[in-house]
Amino acid sequence: ADREAFLKAEIKKLLKAQNAVLVAHYYTDPEIQALAEETNGCISDSLEMARFGRDADEQTLIVAGVKFMGETAKILSPEKRVLMPTLDATCSLDLGCPADKFTEFCDAHPDHTVVVYANTSAAVKARADWVVTSSIALEIVEHLDSLGEKIIWAPDRHLGNYIQKETGADMLMWQGECIVHDEFSSQALRDMKHLHPDAAILVHPESPASVVEMADAVGSTTQLITASQNLPHKKFIVATDRGIFYKMQQLAPNKTFLEAPTGGNGATCKSCAHCPWMAMNGLEAIYSALTGNHSEHEIHVDDALRVDAMKPLNRMLDFAA
Ligand code: 13P
Ligand code: SF4
Repeated sequence: ADREAFLKAEIKKLLKAQNAVLVAHYYTDPEIQALAEETNGCISDSLEMARFGRDADEQTLIVAGVKFMGETAKILSPEKRVLMPTLDATCSLDLGCPADKFTEFCDAHPDHTVVVYANTSAAVKARADWVVTSSIALEIVEHLDSLGEKIIWAPDRHLGNYIQKETGADMLMWQGECIVHDEFSSQALRDMKHLHPDAAILVHPESPASVVEMADAVGSTTQLITASQNLPHKKFIVATDRGIFYKMQQLAPNKTFLEAPTGGNGATCKSCAHCPWMAMNGLEAIYSALTGNHSEHEIHVDDALRVDAMKPLNRMLDFAA
């Protein structure tokens, strides 16, 4: 506890002294989200993190999240220093979509508009026509479909299938998945719903279709938090990373939030509703980013890639504006 208090106090001082701001995702641990709040930083979904980083006056961004979030921040603000608590925090969607294979896939279908999820490397974004996050993916694909465009979608197959079903768009799907959301089980969820018939079910669309079908609300992390406030229910079963409970509970202290069940159990599931890469963003790692060797923490994006990746990212931000 002493060490934790020391780290928090030091980080607060260092952020000020270094003209730096903390940009955190809802899946980081509660103490990191609290620190972002206490230091006027940002806690949000990946779309808002991108906007916040771009618009921040501070010259250094400490991105507490996963690598693609740091890269997005750097692409949008090349003049800023972007540091991450650890450069090892990646994402299974990013890992499962290597740029060379993805380029081959796109080259084989030159008549398709390429739409990639934000959870990808800068090199994959550079090959895309559009970048989307889960909060805006549906609207953008609807828009492209209304123009009669055929779409290549990558990398999350569950999110892609959900959007395809909602919009009826012509979509060629890359077969990637998020190791956290892929583990939610509709069978176990049905059993849980029997025990809590009064609970509403909130689902992030990276979950399997059979889980999404049971949802009272489907959406990005921000959209799920909004639903937890607006729905009349007093109890919720939540199929996304448990980091989100910090904000849900804070905004609706009288409501009850339960973790949706995964197919495995503590011994067999890989992630058990908490992203192992998001979990790397601890206080020690943030302290190290502010005090240690910057080269171990700093995000760099190759200039040529950056210019190409900025176009589809700005297309999304302009669309969202
Ligand atoms: P959001 O954009 O909904 O925050 O999702 C990011 C993410 O990594 C979900 O797993
Ligand atoms: Fe990637 Fe899933 Fe972790 Fe989000 S929760 S960063 S999609 S592995």
